[in-house]
Amino acid sequence: MKRVLKLIRLIPVVLLFIVNQVNAQQGGMWIPSLLEGMNETEMKSLGSQLSAKDIYDINNSSLKDAIGHFNGGCTSEMISPKGLILTNHHCGFGQIQSHSSIEKDYLKNGFWAMSLDDELPNEDLYVDFIVRIEDVTSAVLDNVEETMTEEEKQIEISKNIKSVEEAAKKEEWQKTKVKAFYKGNQYYLFIIDRFEDVRLVGAPPTSIGKFGSDTDNWMFPRHTGDFSVFRIYADANNRPAKYSKDNVPYQPKHFLPVSLDGVSEGDFTLVFGFPGRTDEYLPAVAIEHITQEYNPSNITIREAALKVIDAQMKIDDAVRIKYASKQARIANAWKKWIGENLGIEKTNAIENRKAFETTFTKAMKEKGLEEKYGHILPQFNTLYKDFAEINIKRRNFLEVFVVTNELMKMTYRSYQLENKIKENPEEFEKHIAWIKGQLNGVHKNYDVNVDKAVFKSVMPYYTKDVDASIYKKTAFTDLKSALSLFNGNAKQVLKKLNNDAAYAYAKPMINNYYKEVNVGYQDKKMHIDALQKEYMHALMDVLPQARYFPDANGTLRITYGQVKGYSPRDGVYYNPVCYLEGVMEKYIPGDYEFDVPQKLQDLYNNKDYGQYADTNGKVPVCFLGTNHTTGGNSGSPTIDAYGNLIGLNFDRVWEGTMSDMNYDPEICRNIMVDLRYVLFIIDKYAGATHLIDEMKLVHPKKK
Ligand code: ARG
Ligand code: ASP
Repeated sequence: MKRVLKLIRLIPVVLLFIVNQVNAQQGGMWIPSLLEGMNETEMKSLGSQLSAKDIYDINNSSLKDAIGHFNGGCTSEMISPKGLILTNHHCGFGQIQSHSSIEKDYLKNGFWAMSLDDELPNEDLYVDFIVRIEDVTSAVLDNVEETMTEEEKQIEISKNIKSVEEAAKKEEWQKTKVKAFYKGNQYYLFIIDRFEDVRLVGAPPTSIGKFGSDTDNWMFPRHTGDFSVFRIYADANNRPAKYSKDNVPYQPKHFLPVSLDGVSEGDFTLVFGFPGRTDEYLPAVAIEHITQEYNPSNITIREAALKVIDAQMKIDDAVRIKYASKQARIANAWKKWIGENLGIEKTNAIENRKAFETTFTKAMKEKGLEEKYGHILPQFNTLYKDFAEINIKRRNFLEVFVVTNELMKMTYRSYQLENKIKENPEEFEKHIAWIKGQLNGVHKNYDVNVDKAVFKSVMPYYTKDVDASIYKKTAFTDLKSALSLFNGNAKQVLKKLNNDAAYAYAKPMINNYYKEVNVGYQDKKMHIDALQKEYMHALMDVLPQARYFPDANGTLRITYGQVKGYSPRDGVYYNPVCYLEGVMEKYIPGDYEFDVPQKLQDLYNNKDYGQYADTNGKVPVCFLGTNHTTGGNSGSPTIDAYGNLIGLNFDRVWEGTMSDMNYDPEICRNIMVDLRYVLFIIDKYAGATHLIDEMKLVHPKKK
């Protein structure tokens, strides 16, 4: 621990020295168009044979052309010249679930399209590829003056972003997006190809794809085959197109060859994907608020909801299918927050951050920059004191009215409808179509008894007035009657809506949220964000020798590292690779988390591993790396030193989930499925050999 402490304290001071030492790699999520220099050198020192141009090139095909942003949330990669993409099982979960029923239970049994005709189209699913990245900072900050108020600055910035997005040079089917980096100190423009015909090709049963479920989630050793396979279709010109039966498999600019040689400790690993959000440059006071107030309150509410949902899913198959995605979503963040808090506490992150702030302040004074930056840290303290209560109140509202309870969610959407009608009465028909879409969405996976029980357990966290009798009186709990609330003209609709028992109950709370809670929150948040922007700038100015990567923001990044185990506590060391043996060790017949399909047991018992075993004769399942990843990196390819696919990123270890605020190279590890396990399941378990035939299998270590 002392070593970690010392290391962290020294980071800004002796960073250049540390960077040169292979084992003290510091994490970071880097912009792929800016790798030349420091990153390229550091990657080489970790064993990479790749040049910056192999990774990102706008004139030739490069690795980046194989990386797709999957439905805005996860990552996926091209693995064949015929449009095949790979992502996680938990990323394709919603699609797998939507094709499932009690009769065709693809969640339980898996799904494999044995020909192109069997592949299943998915409404609203899209995959984005980045064509080009450009620095547009000066255009976005044009006319933004220091004398302006924060509101005025934001208005000017939004206006500039819009014109940059509109003026960008692009093909007619391409999209553009500008994103803020370094807390708004830099801006980049992205030119995007969006593919909207993406079909489900294959998924293992949940007992493989989600093996270990919530018990093993965010943990190592891990034995989950967390993958699913899709195919991108394009029009006759190989361009993005909406779904059509005439579309053909997309021929990508680049696809990743798959290595059959696997990994050993110390091998170079590159994870290429779309990390969603990190907050690595928070002041200590913010980490204190998050871990001591914000996380605990969220954990409590989710725990209350999960208790009800989990129990019902176990005894009722229809509920299990309906609530599968919802439950996974609620449970995932719930468990992450718990781990995050433990990690922050165990590594003394708050004290370390305070010590770092002392170092920063000292250097600032030494450089005569006190007048410029001296206000920042004290102001954070005041702002967070003021922000804490409203932040929690707002989050509690969202947890109850959007995340956990469906009846309240329907009233919340109805409130938004009422506003829409009042603001834009001429678009009444459009608003009605919108709310009906929302209601259909909720009712597709709705069970009134589960929802009512959730209501009773979560509502007390938002109000003293918990009235479950509305469930008997409201129209919302039945789809047909809910939809009928919205038949008629505007006046009739609003009258019926306001007479509904659930709506009448919820409306004052939603109103209060909109008029007070959220307004207060947004105002305070804006000032915190503005100060965070100043702080980011100050850090880079006062301690210029340290290296700064921009926080994750849902844009394409690389993070590199090595295959490496870790020691979570005294006397314990986790090996970086685990095997099919571990699946069998965890096997509990009939269990909802740890059952193992008979076919997989047979393959194991007969050692029928084909070409997928390691040199030790065992089938590898998962491995660990030092790559700095976060939510959104799920489904990201792990690429070897030569540009081949070796793994599929899907999780992080329990002790290291705090890496979103405090990456610690000693204990932060990402978890990847070994690609040989993926191939083994596709080939030997599912018999989908036609998919293997499409791929390019290579032996980089046997050259
Ligand atoms: N923890 C991983 C991530 O954040 C995997 C989640 C899927 N698995 C689950 N049991 N919910 O997304
Ligand atoms: N499981 C995460 C995801 O879905 C990855 C992570 O948070 O490490 O993106």
